[in-house]
Amino acid sequence: MKVLGFESSCDETGVALVEVLEAQPPRLLADALHSQVEMHQAYGGVVPELASRDHIRRVLPLARQVMASAGQTLVDVDVVAYTRGPGLAGALLVGAGVAVALGAALGRPTLGVHHLEGHLLSPFLAADAPQFPFVALLVSGGHTQLMQVDGVGRYALLGETIDDAAGEAFDKSAKLLGLGYPGGPALARLAEHGDPKAFALPRPLLHSGDLDFSFAGLKTAVLTAHRKLGAAPVAQQIADLAASTQAAIVDVLVAKTLRALKDSGSRRVVVAGGVGANLRLRAALDAGAARLGAKVHYPPLHLCTDNGAMIALAAALRLQHGLADLRQDGAFDVRPRWPLTEISPAVCGS
Ligand code: KG4
Ligand code: ZN
Repeated sequence: MKVLGFESSCDETGVALVEVLEAQPPRLLADALHSQVEMHQAYGGVVPELASRDHIRRVLPLARQVMASAGQTLVDVDVVAYTRGPGLAGALLVGAGVAVALGAALGRPTLGVHHLEGHLLSPFLAADAPQFPFVALLVSGGHTQLMQVDGVGRYALLGETIDDAAGEAFDKSAKLLGLGYPGGPALARLAEHGDPKAFALPRPLLHSGDLDFSFAGLKTAVLTAHRKLGAAPVAQQIADLAASTQAAIVDVLVAKTLRALKDSGSRRVVVAGGVGANLRLRAALDAGAARLGAKVHYPPLHLCTDNGAMIALAAALRLQHGLADLRQDGAFDVRPRWPLTEISPAVCGS
């Protein structure tokens, strides 16, 4: 069975083809991605209307590219999957509309996938795929959550951010430092040349005793520290502030994830979402988990940020586990706000 997946929830158009054979891990046959980063750069952030229009321009050429590089044609597709939410409404509608139209034209069923479930399961595309159960740290531009994952579709929320997401903390701090958009990778690059101990920034909720996060205060502290540097700070000071900001975010993410590991008694952690590409986070988490005798699993680096492969994969795993809510009536909706726990009622209601 072959699943064609579409991702268009924010500023990346992703398409991928995944093959599912019975009792075997799903296999990625081909994927293609177009990032809108350059287009949004001029505005310092994602402009939703421009994002939607660009998804429209890119989605079909990317689909053709995927089918060609997999050596397949559209009639070989058995199920068409798309990101149903959460994300930007207009952007989601593009992927959903194309997927459902394609399903109708081909006479194939469609499946709306939760974007975060895609991230959560993306390490199954890596060479050393994890086994269930595991603790998952989901760190993207819009979400920061710790989840207990007992199987496909069995997700329980352990803790989450009460304000900004970790990616947002990176992005907003980067903006304050004049690093443009998207801030996370830019701040991380600059941080490599800075001293992470140069500025004493807060580690919000570090000792709160629970697994929740808060990053809004950190952003204010970065703003205050930046102002104190005066109108013309030297480049090294900015690098030091970037390194100190990154260290504060990473310290909190690592401490809470290790606490979740200890609490759950699990020996496996999965890190997913764009911030999972952060190399300092990876190094600190690897070291901390090793001390607990645990292993950290990541998706391949290029599949940390949004992509179509994780959507096709999540759909494939749901199909394999008999959990796919397939539709063939040509109707669809998108869920711009859609808590992940809603797709796992059995676990989270208990
Ligand atoms: O998962 P993702 O691609 O999109 C969302 O669903 O939000 O995550 C994007 C986020 C952005 O906030 C971006 O700045 C952050 O991931 N990010 C990073 C790095 N690469 C991407 N943050 C820190 N370090 C990185 N290397
Ligand atoms: Zn994402």
